[in-house]
Amino acid sequence: MRAMKSLLRLIGIALGAVGVLAVLALGALYALSERILDRTYPVPTATVAIPTGPEAIHEGRRLAIVHGCLNDCHGKEGEGLLIFDQPILVRIVAPNLTAATRRYTDAQLAGIIRQGVRPDGRSVLVMPSEIFAPLSDADVGRIIAFLRSVPPVAGPGPSISVGPLGRLYLLDGRVETAVARIAESVPPPPATSPEGAFGRYLARTICAGCHGSDLHGASRLTFVSPSLAVVAAYSPDAFAHLMRTGVALGGRLLPVMSPRAQRNLSSLTDEEIAALYSYLRALAGAASR
Ligand code: HEC
Repeated sequence: MRAMKSLLRLIGIALGAVGVLAVLALGALYALSERILDRTYPVPTATVAIPTGPEAIHEGRRLAIVHGCLNDCHGKEGEGLLIFDQPILVRIVAPNLTAATRRYTDAQLAGIIRQGVRPDGRSVLVMPSEIFAPLSDADVGRIIAFLRSVPPVAGPGPSISVGPLGRLYLLDGRVETAVARIAESVPPPPATSPEGAFGRYLARTICAGCHGSDLHGASRLTFVSPSLAVVAAYSPDAFAHLMRTGVALGGRLLPVMSPRAQRNLSSLTDEEIAALYSYLRALAGAASR
């Protein structure tokens, strides 16, 4: 009976110790990941010229669609959207752009979009600034001109809560802040013609978010994408068909790519599709950098 009692006591002490260790580990996980999230960087101050007039605004809206700001992450018209909801990993609400744009100056907006740095110096986490980093002043200016032209609508503010698994991924590098992703981006090979250079610009600022900064495919938490060297298997018409309708070679509909093409890439112009094709078709043979 006494032996039984002291065995139970020992088990109790062991369980208590495991509990204390678990609480300590969770505390350390939160403290260390918070340090990554709270790291600050120099706030960009460069101003961009914002064009005026209906043509620039119209083009800015098209660019916002093509680059996936509208009809995707920030909702259909920029009203904001819950884009990911797995509390153990992360819960992300992409903010209402019609409200966010009113809180920031043009320079602050450009800094968030291209450098991934918020006005308080912290990096954005989910926003794909690594693909917007190469955006030209002219394109950023038109996107901001469009955003400022949209009348405010109701929608959620920014809200990101990172769960324990997401914090673990932050510590082991599987999840990184935008500033870290920009620093690690590997540019794709240079183009060999002016048309190819335009195609490379489009691929870096549109396709790279899912196909990797060097366009050679990527493995993300929610999907795996192929190297864009696959474009060599496409004829110009088949490639244009994929961009416009989401239907891939052999009449296939693809789970991630097809909806993205239908919602966003279908707003590419014929000239842009031809430039993308010109660059990507040669990607397989191009020497890197
Ligand atoms: C939202 C992420 C996303 C974006 C943006 C994106 N892709 Fe994809 N793409 C994918 C994924 C993922 C696949 C693999 C199939 C799938 O899971 O849908 C794919 C597949 C492809 C394929 C292979 C089709 C086949 O024959 O199997 C091509 C070609 C392609 N993408 C071209 C592009 C080009 C060009 C762009 C930019 C203009 C682009 N993608 C932008 C995610 C994306």
